[in-house]
Amino acid sequence: MSLDNVKLSIKNLDLFYGDNQALKDINIDIKENKVTALIGPSGCGKSTFLRTLNRMNDLIENVTIKGKIEVDGEDIYQTEDVIKLRTKVGMVFQKPNPFPMSIYDNIAYGPRIHGIRDKKILDKIVEESLRGAAIWDEVKDRLKTSALGLSGGQQQRICIARAIAMKPEVILMDEPTSALDPISTSKVEELIEELKKDYTIVIVTHNMQQAARISDDTAFFLNGVLVEYSETKDMFTAPKDKRTEDYITGRFG
Ligand SMILES: Nc1ncnc2c1ncn2[C@@H]1O[C@H](COP(=O)(O)OP(=O)(O)OP(=O)(O)O)[C@@H](O)[C@H]1O
Ligand SMILES: [Mg+2]
Repeated sequence: MSLDNVKLSIKNLDLFYGDNQALKDINIDIKENKVTALIGPSGCGKSTFLRTLNRMNDLIENVTIKGKIEVDGEDIYQTEDVIKLRTKVGMVFQKPNPFPMSIYDNIAYGPRIHGIRDKKILDKIVEESLRGAAIWDEVKDRLKTSALGLSGGQQQRICIARAIAMKPEVILMDEPTSALDPISTSKVEELIEELKKDYTIVIVTHNMQQAARISDDTAFFLNGVLVEYSETKDMFTAPKDKRTEDYITGRFG
């Protein structure tokens, strides 16, 4: 494990919603160019934890965060430039949420906000991002039509392309396939496998088979506590903690 680069380092992380502590002293190093799966029963803090990694919880009232999160050794809660952070650490949500505009404009949206106006450059970013998200061939002849006219699985890959267009280094995904049919799910899973060559991926999933299939490392959360964190193959064959074993064998959750 020690040969891998650490991309995100989380130290003594506590998070409170008002008085309710949702994350309790989380310590974890997430490796570069790997897929890390976050698993655990509903309400255990997976989405909350994921959101701390690009400060999405800042948008929620009454949240208190203690501890430290470093991306490439830099404390992300010390930086003033949250926009830049969210460019570097992008996010894909559970429900595909393309903007109500054309496929092209969905992908060009972020780059345009960052001041890119040159049509040739935008064309290139759009094509590269759509190719990167394995959806170029399906949409190349209808780039000017609404993204809302695509299937759910296609929409989710558009959202992944939109994230890629910002040239992030880390992509956070919160149950990205839970709203998709099995064929779209396997397309997104193949895509994730492909993406980890270039990106560090952290993915929340309720699907144990999915975690086992696509992740290198797995973190198991329970009631806001990180119970176990290890290489996925070890966790699924020889869990160290009884609670992990009970969860992955389907005894609860
Ligand atoms: N915006 C919020 N305000 C107050 N409490 C919240 C908020 N979001 C989450 N919580 C609480 O924090 C705890 C962790 O919730 P979280 O959404 O992180 O769980 P989860 O593991 O992602 O669950 P699920 O698998 O159902 O998505 C829960 O007790 C939840 O009720
Ligand atoms: Mg969640």
